Amino acid sequence: MIPFTKQAIVGQEYAYMLRSCRYSTDFITKCEKLLGDIFQNEVLLTNSGTSALEIAALLLNINSEDEVIVPAFTHPASASAFAKLGARIVFADVTEDTLNIDPLAVRDLITSHTKAIVPVHYNGVVCNIAALQTLHIDIVEDNAHGLFQYSKDYEGYLGMFGRLSATSFHSTKNYQCQEGGALFLNYNYDMFRAKCIRDNGTDRHLLGIVPAYTWVEMGSRYMPAEMLAAYFYAQLEMREVIANRRKKAWDYYYDNLGFLSLPVKQLSSHHIFYFLAENKIDRDAILKKLTDAGITAVFHYQPLNKSKMGLTFGEQHCPVAENVADRIVRLPLYYDLTYKQQDYIIEVLWKVQS
Ligand SMILES: Cc1ncc(COP(=O)(O)O)c(C=O)c1O
Repeated sequence: MIPFTKQAIVGQEYAYMLRSCRYSTDFITKCEKLLGDIFQNEVLLTNSGTSALEIAALLLNINSEDEVIVPAFTHPASASAFAKLGARIVFADVTEDTLNIDPLAVRDLITSHTKAIVPVHYNGVVCNIAALQTLHIDIVEDNAHGLFQYSKDYEGYLGMFGRLSATSFHSTKNYQCQEGGALFLNYNYDMFRAKCIRDNGTDRHLLGIVPAYTWVEMGSRYMPAEMLAAYFYAQLEMREVIANRRKKAWDYYYDNLGFLSLPVKQLSSHHIFYFLAENKIDRDAILKKLTDAGITAVFHYQPLNKSKMGLTFGEQHCPVAENVADRIVRLPLYYDLTYKQQDYIIEVLWKVQS
């Protein structure tokens, strides 16, 4: 069976893990420094992308008076981080060309209660940030898919455009350590509170300056494990190798699958290779035929506005998200996927379509 995804182990991951120590934060600090230097902002490593979003929600003091606008086509974590503090989640539709949040839909959803907008850069294709910035509402980028993706339009990396940005190092991501993430802080004034929130709401990071740490605000255990940070540092060292390999595999699909309904090619992180089937019946039939041929292809997010939890915020309509959720097919894409395997997948798809 060709798996859908596979963890890339490409450098010193195991060696660094053996060197890491329970009572040190050397690798956490090294990862934060490397990322901070590249992105020219403050970076806090966390134990997941979800945790990074939860810290963002606490930093914005989200409460039950607030509304937060989230795309309907995303992972539940983009919404739940804010919902758990009492916010009403308002779902915005996405555009079919990128599967990113539709700024026109967002504009129509703004009220005096809107506290934040959470654009997700699907597959690391940049959202229409300029249009969102004109709304003058705090932006929390959910950049789980797009670490290290540069945007020519905005002359910066994804994750540098909002007040805050979260990314994920979950084992399915391009650069991973099984479970991990980071919060990017684009304003220094968020830093002190963010550090406290990450460490159970304490000012433990001041130890050495203060004689004892104390509980200063709401937080939780969002710190990453040093051993996983050690693993992740090795991935960071190999980031160009990983990015190049994924790009080659992505381009190979793109150049050979022109008979499918592919998204327009644009700058992306090559996190996902997808196409859209005609409808749900066709999509499910394609997935079944691929499975029968030993290929694990999958669909993706279910529209959050139609989910059990999403419906607790009232009926909301996001027709594009609902439609693409029924039609999307994601193909295997990982570091050591071979051209031979890709040729086989392409051949099976060709037979399925003809
Ligand atoms: C768009 C998006 N946001 C947030 C998350 C949550 O990240 P994590 O799994 O690291 O908690 C994911 C998960 O994969 C995701 O796809």
